[in-house]
Amino acid sequence: MKRAFILGTGSCLPARKLTNFDLEKMVETSDEWITTRTGIHTRRISGPGEENYLLAASAARRALRNAEVKPRDLDMIVVATMTPHMIMPSCACFVQAEIGASQAFAYDLNAACSGFLYGLDLVDKYIVSRPEMKILLIGSETLSARVNWQDRNTCILFGDGAGASVLSGGGKGSGVVDADLRSDGRLWNLLYMHSPASRNPDLEQNCHDCCYIQMTGRDVFKHAVKAMEGSVQELLRRNGLTIHDIALMIPHQANIRILHKLMERLGVAEEKVYVNVDKYGNTSAASIPIALDEAHRQGMIRRGDLLLFCSFGGGFTWGSMLMHW
Ligand code: ACO
Repeated sequence: MKRAFILGTGSCLPARKLTNFDLEKMVETSDEWITTRTGIHTRRISGPGEENYLLAASAARRALRNAEVKPRDLDMIVVATMTPHMIMPSCACFVQAEIGASQAFAYDLNAACSGFLYGLDLVDKYIVSRPEMKILLIGSETLSARVNWQDRNTCILFGDGAGASVLSGGGKGSGVVDADLRSDGRLWNLLYMHSPASRNPDLEQNCHDCCYIQMTGRDVFKHAVKAMEGSVQELLRRNGLTIHDIALMIPHQANIRILHKLMERLGVAEEKVYVNVDKYGNTSAASIPIALDEAHRQGMIRRGDLLLFCSFGGGFTWGSMLMHW
């Protein structure tokens, strides 16, 4: 049976950098507080010409070049996002038009920060039934549009960006090995964002500030560490593996303290974990594909390597995946 295998990767970050020192001028905070609590130094903020679908399309073009696949040879496009620039049509349809993928069907998926991981699992299911398919999977977010820039609890954490992968059926022993995906909707109100103001007066009443990201940080922190650890341990156990079999772990880049706690609990060496949260902050569904593209371009991944992805986000949604490169 052929499993989803990554043929190429790409990413795109907006040009503008917002530093902790810039944030000091916007809210009552300090570089020292942000750095010690989150490990974030800068994040990228999109401007005109850097709408979500345009970042996504740029990342896609790079991934297609890297994979040596032409846009018209794509069968399917999935964009994992919770910040599409329009509710309808989907971001994926805009990307399809932008890159000229005339043969592909396209739609969005929303699993918050776990979107790319859920997307990989979805793509794997298509590939298992039709291994010749060529699929473009993108994680793309413009969270800066949905952050309350007066709320120091949240505005320091997030950034914009996009990462893409082109996938098709791999050879024997390559591609996705297994995935463990989970959700718990009962905990939705620890991390959420309402729809933007609506013309429906009933919905409008509920909107207030909450069309921005709302978060109970400490609870999110505890759940994130526990949930990702549990998922990774379960995935390793049922595949007869230990953490020492992993060549590189690419976790969702939420903040450095979550990552350090996770590394400690899993007993994984720091040099086996790819981290770029210092440069981009939390880019939600885009964080894993951006990190994967950087690690790939830096030559940190070799043929046959066993990769471990894990994520946690609003919903709550979380999970982990093993993949042979
Ligand atoms: N600058 C200065 N002070 C701040 C700031 C800030 N930016 N933000 C909050 N504070 C203050 C608070 O008001 C509070 O003050 P008080 O004691 O006078 O009330 C104090 O700092 C401590 O606040 P806590 O919330 O207890 O700080 P904590 O040590 O828990 O750190 C943080 C906050 C960084 C948000 C942490 O809880 C965290 O990392 N949570 C995880 C959140 C996350 O990563 N969310 C992303 C989405 S989910 C995901 O992707 C996994």
